[in-house]
Amino acid sequence: MSVKRVVMMTGLSAGLVGALALSGTAHAGELNRGALLSAQCETCHGTDGTGAAPMPSINGMDVADMVDVMKAFASKEEKSTMMYRHAQGYSDEELKAVAEYLKGK
Ligand code: HEC
Repeated sequence: MSVKRVVMMTGLSAGLVGALALSGTAHAGELNRGALLSAQCETCHGTDGTGAAPMPSINGMDVADMVDVMKAFASKEEKSTMMYRHAQGYSDEELKAVAEYLKGK
């Protein structure tokens, strides 16, 4: 095997490892998005959304219910003192990511 061929093969496998590492990172990034976004909720609702009196706990809620409640807050359909403004700051995908993260807490 020529030196040139060995170098090429090494480069190829390094490329493959790199691609695998990248896809791993992308996946972890998706998982962390909910955690990252819900950190904002946790400043009021307590660590992992488990409630910090007098704030209601928001962990373990059904994902669809959480998204519905957030949309109801945003549209003022559900009365609130703070959540009206806060709920407007998230896209549907972000609300879902937050809800999925908090459901497991
Ligand atoms: C600035 C403080 C604050 C932040 C930040 C906040 N909340 Fe709230 N949340 C409240 C308050 C206060 C209520 C009670 C309703 C009201 O008056 O707004 C509430 C109510 C709720 C409720 C209804 C719970 C129930 O049992 O009635 C849900 C669900 C909720 N928040 C989800 C979230 C999510 C998800 C986030 C992050 C995206 C978040 N909140 C961020 C203050 C906050």
